[in-house]
Amino acid sequence: MTEHVTHVSHPLVQHKLTLMRDQNTSTAVFRQLLREISQLLAYEVTRELPMTTKRIDTPLEPMDAPTLDGKKLALVSILRAGNGLLDGILELIPSARVGFVGLYRDEETLKPVQYYFKVPTEIEDRLVIAVDPMLATGNSSVAAIDLLKQAGARNIRFLCLLAAPEGIARMKEAHPDVPIVTAAIDSNLNEKGYIVPGLGDAGDRMFGTK
Ligand code: URA
Repeated sequence: MTEHVTHVSHPLVQHKLTLMRDQNTSTAVFRQLLREISQLLAYEVTRELPMTTKRIDTPLEPMDAPTLDGKKLALVSILRAGNGLLDGILELIPSARVGFVGLYRDEETLKPVQYYFKVPTEIEDRLVIAVDPMLATGNSSVAAIDLLKQAGARNIRFLCLLAAPEGIARMKEAHPDVPIVTAAIDSNLNEKGYIVPGLGDAGDRMFGTK
């Protein structure tokens, strides 16, 4: 991908996102919309995957038909909200390998601390798509990508639903080689680190917690 940030302005994505932002949208509908939107975003983030051809026989004649090249890609969910994007993408790319990064914020240092990290083998040879619905301050996203790079990942893309300008700037500074795909770039962060206008706490909204 050539752009650092790709804003997916497709009407279906924008319509679904509006429904998700609405505070009157139920947990069940929110989850379903997230699943649908994740597939539309996955379509965009995988647009330039390397291709090759393989010889097949159609009922009429042999042909060299296009097929994906290289190792199976790795989807990495940044817990816990990343899991909401995972299921839909896996429906579209069922052979993808899956990893998880768990981070929490140390309330004294305010720095992200790792509590879980498991990624597929041969990560260095795979396209890695890290998923987290909300790119807010960028602290956890940057830390997750740091960990992925330490594990050997070299070709990483970041997929989110909403991004704040602050988070995009932070990612660009720390990881200019990681393209971002997002459904929207919102106005700003509030004093609590929420994206405004945003959609609230993505994890709470998809899992029905508070
Ligand atoms: N995480 C969320 O779930 N929502 C925000 O607005 C910011 C971070």
